[in-house]
Amino acid sequence: MAKIISEVSRTFSEYLLIPRLTRKNHLPQNVSLSSPVAKFKSGESSRLLLNVPFVSASMQSVSGAEMAISLARRGGCAFIYCSQSIEQQAAMVSRVKSHKAGFVQSDSNLKPDNTLRDAISLRKKTGHSTMPVTHDGSRNGIFLGIITDKDFWEFEDNLDAPVSQFMTPKENVVFGVYGITLHEANKVLRNSKKECLPVLEKDGNLHSLVFKKDYFDHMNNPDELLDKNKRLITGAGVNTHDYKDRIPALMEAGIDALCFDSSDGYSEFQMEAAKWARTRYGNDVIIGGGNVVDGDAFRYLVEEADVDFVKVGIGGGSICITREQKGIGRGQASALMAVCAERDRYFSETGIYVPVCSDGGLANDTQIIIALAMGADFVMMGRYFAMTVESPTPKVSIGGRIYKPYWGEGSNRARNWQRYNQAAEGDSGMKFEEGVDAYVPVVGSVKEVMSVTMAKLKSTMCNMGSVTLKEFADNAVLTRISEQSFVEGGTPNVISLDKDLPREV
Ligand code: IMP
Repeated sequence: MAKIISEVSRTFSEYLLIPRLTRKNHLPQNVSLSSPVAKFKSGESSRLLLNVPFVSASMQSVSGAEMAISLARRGGCAFIYCSQSIEQQAAMVSRVKSHKAGFVQSDSNLKPDNTLRDAISLRKKTGHSTMPVTHDGSRNGIFLGIITDKDFWEFEDNLDAPVSQFMTPKENVVFGVYGITLHEANKVLRNSKKECLPVLEKDGNLHSLVFKKDYFDHMNNPDELLDKNKRLITGAGVNTHDYKDRIPALMEAGIDALCFDSSDGYSEFQMEAAKWARTRYGNDVIIGGGNVVDGDAFRYLVEEADVDFVKVGIGGGSICITREQKGIGRGQASALMAVCAERDRYFSETGIYVPVCSDGGLANDTQIIIALAMGADFVMMGRYFAMTVESPTPKVSIGGRIYKPYWGEGSNRARNWQRYNQAAEGDSGMKFEEGVDAYVPVVGSVKEVMSVTMAKLKSTMCNMGSVTLKEFADNAVLTRISEQSFVEGGTPNVISLDKDLPREV
């Protein structure tokens, strides 16, 4: 007969935290959000630490190169989606790794015989008002000069004239030579009072641009997540089908962490693929397993598959219909607590700490905070990042509001059949959907949304008498709440100016 687990499957909105003693040093500015990604022995340090415990989901509508760059600059890490060709995914990883902090590959370039009209339309398309001129208009062509919107008057000058007549020619441009450090480049910018410094290869080809504004941006992003060569850190999703080709290509491109993109990771397929990667790359590869929802599956992935971290969550994602389609899954809070309990048992038995990631179903900042309090080392989110300007989808206007498309990897739109165990041997078809195709509102940049979430998280950590995520989880005392207390936590007894009354204009 089937075994029935006696506890009800629960989710994050059913819990609240009870504050602990806040001491005088428990201040937001003293809080560290550093968190391990790769397993480590007691007393040692993890091979990869996040500066902020957020990673973005390996999904087409979430994690492209732009997201990876932006998230790493804020201290987190993207997992670039694997439901694309190996070449395309590796190219995205290369783009992130070559985005040397401060040295920008120019994506607004002109040929000398392009017209001012071309320059204006390029500026409108990319939003960049500084445009290098190269012999063939390519980003790494021979550098001939630079044109900015200060060099011409859109409504006075002849827009059919070539940019070569208006650009500052190379002989009058202050430039750096490839090999210059960022520190030196910024010094040249400061001394020359320029906004932009082109960096040229020895043979005169354009390598990159350094902007004064990026210096200030860098100073404003102290959490930037960099590898030992000062390149941004990025992750990527992999599957259990083409891993023998995909993982080497990603390693070649400089990937920092991999995770299996699977709706159910408790499988021999995943064990074999993870062991293959470990045998081939040893500790040079950081690989996450999952998704799982109980302690048995955690043990299996750690002991049999030798993974570095374990991802928790089946059926809770905002676009996910796995539970209704197949009847598998578990309330995300129950799943997370069961897996974290097993992680802690494993640690006390072996002295090895295996980080746990809570993946999917985080509907607001409070739920992120509760997941970290319940013991997640970091959280993976899809919807949260799909709503930012950096997600790879175009903005659309619906009923006067701006939205972006957001679709599940198991939807007909993504057709990521490798993520799901639907196909028989040799059959790559998708027989039914496990995700929906949807829209989410655009809420701002990654930086904007994360700064609000971080402020709330740090404030709650102080309420809980903690300045590290470990202390936060160790100190956490949670209470289950009734539906009535949930309602009490809102504002049911007043008329809200925002929700209930039309705003005066
Ligand atoms: P969200 O943060 O609630 O939007 O959930 C994102 C997570 O949902 C991802 O990291 C995946 O684990 C999961 N996911 C992505 N696509 C699908 C799908 O089509 N069906 C079920 N789960 C999905």
